[in-house]
Amino acid sequence: PKVFYTQPDGEVKVIDGAVGDSVMSTAVRNGVRGIVGQCGGTMSCATCHVYVDRAELGFFPDPSDDEDDMLECTAADRADNSRLSCQLELADGVDLHVTVPDEQV
Ligand code: FES
Repeated sequence: PKVFYTQPDGEVKVIDGAVGDSVMSTAVRNGVRGIVGQCGGTMSCATCHVYVDRAELGFFPDPSDDEDDMLECTAADRADNSRLSCQLELADGVDLHVTVPDEQV
């Protein structure tokens, strides 16, 4: 599956990801600006905050309570399509589009 990462300035980076990897680890491995993933995906840093294309939100289970709490601690304002990208798993045949918040770049 491909992940399209859009920066606040409009630059788009397209990465060919692996099924089962997270949107966060795919970004970190490929040097996508603004997705830090400091805690390694344990939902304790919020440096992996992204905005998910609204049409694709339904691909993922709703945020857990822990994710929900952490989304209140993001550097950029939370929106209705905010997610922690470490909790978003790539699935076979599902391309994803996420936008990196301004404050993380
Ligand atoms: Fe730390 Fe997602 S990588 S909360």
